[in-house]
Amino acid sequence: MEISGRVAIVTGAGAGIGAALSRRLVAEGARVVLADLDLDGAARVAESLGAAAVAVGGDVADERVIRGLIDRAEAEFGPVDLYFANAGIGGGAGLDSTDAQWAAALEVNVLAHVRAARLLVPGWLARGGGYFVSTASAAGLLTQLGSAPYAVSKHAAVGFAEWLSVTYGDNGIRVSCVCPMGVDTQLLQSGLVPPEHAAEAELAVKAVKTAGAVLSPEQVAEIVVAGVEAERFLILPHPEVLKMYSHKGTDYDRWLDGMRRFQAALRG
Ligand SMILES: NC(=O)c1ccc[n+]([C@@H]2O[C@H](COP(=O)([O-])OP(=O)(O)OC[C@H]3O[C@@H](n4cnc5c(N)ncnc54)[C@H](O)[C@@H]3O)[C@@H](O)[C@H]2O)c1
Repeated sequence: MEISGRVAIVTGAGAGIGAALSRRLVAEGARVVLADLDLDGAARVAESLGAAAVAVGGDVADERVIRGLIDRAEAEFGPVDLYFANAGIGGGAGLDSTDAQWAAALEVNVLAHVRAARLLVPGWLARGGGYFVSTASAAGLLTQLGSAPYAVSKHAAVGFAEWLSVTYGDNGIRVSCVCPMGVDTQLLQSGLVPPEHAAEAELAVKAVKTAGAVLSPEQVAEIVVAGVEAERFLILPHPEVLKMYSHKGTDYDRWLDGMRRFQAALRG
């Protein structure tokens, strides 16, 4: 898909990967609605991008907020071509994660995607196409040591993106699923696991940083845009994730043994 001239919505655009993606999309000639709980953050990014960007505040897991984003995009720029379901949260740790932590992870990391697709797909089918880009995580293909809610909700995000692609791919709807390991953002620095679970928080961050390079959000944005232009489903900013994922698929028990050894080594 050619990005130039397209209309995009990017969620979680006030910081990190979403902010870098928004900048990159505008540089490629797209017009972008930047959505974030943190309206000030999104507004700062949008202001730096001029007339091709507007910021909207709100919780992108809320269907009314998503409806508002789509309406705003249409009013400012025209029908939405691309939706980047990028906002995501950590939270929770092991079995002591609360129901509220599970619910929050599932709301933002999965149900936000489902609700956006529910609102967008009918219009995309009527217009003959559209593009849904899910920022899941390598944790959705492998796992996230130290955080069950993050690992599980990201698996669900991958599962939903796959389902969307299989179900609507023949109707012109494109789907990409972005699965990075470490990216240098607030989420990795302090958001994966709440600080009160100090041992799990340390394990989670150590696991990500030990597994591979920590990329900048700008590096990830460049790889995502190239993947969308190539209409590739699985976008892997860390290419070695494909090898890890194929090990998992080839011999699950061996992969689990390896993960236990990795975890034990990280815990010292
Ligand atoms: N940083 C990493 O190492 C890493 C690795 C793999 C995947 N990811 C995924 O990338 C995505 C972006 O994360 P990031 O690292 O840029 O994090 P970040 O914390 O820097 O940015 C996330 C942004 O999303 C916003 N947000 C969170 N919940 C929201 C909600 N309900 N509604 C609206 N906005 C909301 C936050 O305010 C924040 O501005 C997430 O889905 C994350 O899980 C990150």
